[in-house]
Amino acid sequence: RVLVLDFGSQYAQLIARRVRENNVYCEIVRHDITAEQIKKHNPRGLILSGGPNSVYEKGAPRCDPKLFSLGVPVLGICYGMQLACDTLGGKVDSAPAREYGRARVQITEQGDLFAGVPAQIDVWMSHGDQVSRVSDDFIPLAKTGTCPIAAVRHRTLPVYAMQFHPEVTHTPLGSHILHNFLTTVCGCGGTWKLGDFARETIGRLKEQIGNGRVICGLSGGVDSAVTAALLYQAIGPRLSCILVDNGLLRKDEQAAVIAEFSNHFKTDLHVVQAETEFLKTLEGITEPQEKRRRIGHAFIECFKREALKIKDVEFLAQGTLYPDVIESGAAIDGPAATIKLHHNVGGLPAELGFKLVEPLRDLFKDEVRRLGLELGLPEDLVWRHPFPGPGLAVRCLGDITKPKLDVLREADAVMIEEIKAAGLYRTTSQAFAVLLPVQSVGVMGDARTYENVVAIRCVNTDDFMTADWTHLPYEVLARISTRIINEVKGVNRVCYDISSKPPATIEWE
Ligand code: XMP
Repeated sequence: RVLVLDFGSQYAQLIARRVRENNVYCEIVRHDITAEQIKKHNPRGLILSGGPNSVYEKGAPRCDPKLFSLGVPVLGICYGMQLACDTLGGKVDSAPAREYGRARVQITEQGDLFAGVPAQIDVWMSHGDQVSRVSDDFIPLAKTGTCPIAAVRHRTLPVYAMQFHPEVTHTPLGSHILHNFLTTVCGCGGTWKLGDFARETIGRLKEQIGNGRVICGLSGGVDSAVTAALLYQAIGPRLSCILVDNGLLRKDEQAAVIAEFSNHFKTDLHVVQAETEFLKTLEGITEPQEKRRRIGHAFIECFKREALKIKDVEFLAQGTLYPDVIESGAAIDGPAATIKLHHNVGGLPAELGFKLVEPLRDLFKDEVRRLGLELGLPEDLVWRHPFPGPGLAVRCLGDITKPKLDVLREADAVMIEEIKAAGLYRTTSQAFAVLLPVQSVGVMGDARTYENVVAIRCVNTDDFMTADWTHLPYEVLARISTRIINEVKGVNRVCYDISSKPPATIEWE
């Protein structure tokens, strides 16, 4: 395995993902992990991430200097390079010009790290500081016009470093360089496989759960379905699933989840019909965070009530993913831990008294999808777009009523149908409709209408932290608009949302 030491980089997760794409298992750890603790992990390599600080500032995050002499190869990236050079003999200064964006790097020595890389390559830079001088212990490997030492290796220690970011797609040969580091420098065989992961996880679940009973909430999404599939393979009928229909689901979603479930699992499913309860608690509420709070609360109540009806439950399974673990700070509790998700409405509190089982907590979303396919879940389910916990409540702007939700459900169904029919569902990240609290004037036949406006939104994103609006073909937009206006009663106008995130968010509330 390889460890990524996180110095507060927004790219630490991306580095971990790139390493795993090479079939090498990778974990993110705190930057101040000691050399002794590192030894216990027995890693093949260490990667020091970038970070927002300056190494010469007081209080800047540092690493245990002993890690450089463990004999384990180290790759410093950006801040990680500055830290490695600062620790082992070099000087870091603020750069004459802040470099942000694409840059052309000249490779002056290929060595192991840049084997197979041409003499000039495009890279992504994002730094205010840089290494201005290194001792004779370092050999410079690359430079740019403004950054005379853009990559180095140590003469005697297996320490490599680069100022640019090999993990981002804007460095086209970045994955080649990381591959060199992992295979040639670290000697990783690239044998880590999701199939092994599934087998090991199922084995571990069997051991952990013994003869106990587990409950698992189903949401219709891929994370909870894969969680259930792993558990089902581990403990079979001792798994009970709960689906809370909060009345905020998409059209026909309850039926779809039940059908998929009974095709794949021969185990206990409890469907809680809670539409009335949720609509009541949401009555007159327009403020988005208050909607979320109430929905979260009602969900816990419903789930708890149902869970208590099931006898002898000892464990609660949750589809927590690796990015949630990192963002909640549970994994690293380091500088990056300040980024928190405001999202997870589905989180159930410890007060339920069950032991938690989280079999996906080491995986990224794309790995969960691949795992789902390996476990035999249908493509439709595995590739489903994410759907927020508060559901249509945050897409029905303003106060929520059943008639409004019904209009939204119909419009949303048309949108998804047309995106699928155009073959665009897999290549887009999220597509949906939003019902605006606005009436607009229209004309239908000879009559004046004064009806609802629907906004449609479609985005592409890798990580949902930033997103671009999708450039849908005009014909697709035209079909969606015509169909919504013709088929959905109460709508006379459709708008396409052309805002990127940031500054807009993906959802409207
Ligand atoms: P935003 O709107 O913040 O959304 O750009 C980013 C991603 O998160 C989803 N989202 C939520 N998911 N509970 C959830 O489980 C929520 O309250 C919530 N709000 C947004 C959103 O659909 C997108 O995929």
